[in-house]
Amino acid sequence: MIPFAPPRIDDRTIKAVTDALKSGWITTGPRTKAFEKHLAEYCGVEKVIALNSWTNAAELALRWFGIGPGDEVIIPAYTYCATANIVMHVGAKPVLVDVLDDFTMDPEAVRKAMNQRTKCIIPVDIGGVPARVAEIVRVAEEACAWFTPAVNLRVGGANPQMRLGRALVLSDAAHSFGARIHDKPVGAQADITGFSFHAVKNLTTAEGGALAFNLPEPFDR
Ligand SMILES: Cc1ncc(COP(=O)(O)O)c(C=O)c1O
Repeated sequence: MIPFAPPRIDDRTIKAVTDALKSGWITTGPRTKAFEKHLAEYCGVEKVIALNSWTNAAELALRWFGIGPGDEVIIPAYTYCATANIVMHVGAKPVLVDVLDDFTMDPEAVRKAMNQRTKCIIPVDIGGVPARVAEIVRVAEEACAWFTPAVNLRVGGANPQMRLGRALVLSDAAHSFGARIHDKPVGAQADITGFSFHAVKNLTTAEGGALAFNLPEPFDR
């Protein structure tokens, strides 16, 4: 039998879990805050929030940006179903584009698929190989001249789509915590990056996920 991505659980992990159980604080608390701080330092971003899975973390990002019915989200044709599921959960339409030889999203295919309904692009890192996120951000920036934000969207008094002024680039880095692109950590490239800490991932919390924020200046990070 060939084991599939067994979790690495050493004695320090067991002791840390035992300490947490004995402390009585077994939900989001000081340990989660410390974990978020470590993740942010490791990724070179100002803010990371820890959540219960990639799926819920990334869906939260779509909801914050008010993405829903009538909007399109570009995703790669080769990915795990969660990438498409979150788009459908919010009522938007997943638009599949082709991948390159390394199975990551083709930035030129993204350019061709973009239109006024495009509100978000989700590049997916595959098996630790990061997608061409910087190129995809450039494609989104080049299309900002005709980007049309949902004008009536109000989240806490602000409209994040208007503030960004282009399609959101939300990276699916479920497979790639710890990877780097041209010496820049995954997490510091897309506007928002989602990580998964599910049992088979390279860093695990059994189930879990996080969002790393790298939104440009007008955002209060
Ligand atoms: C590419 C990709 N995206 C998203 C997910 C979903 O992650 P989670 O189980 O943390 O919701 C997975 C899970 O395997 C995945 O492979």
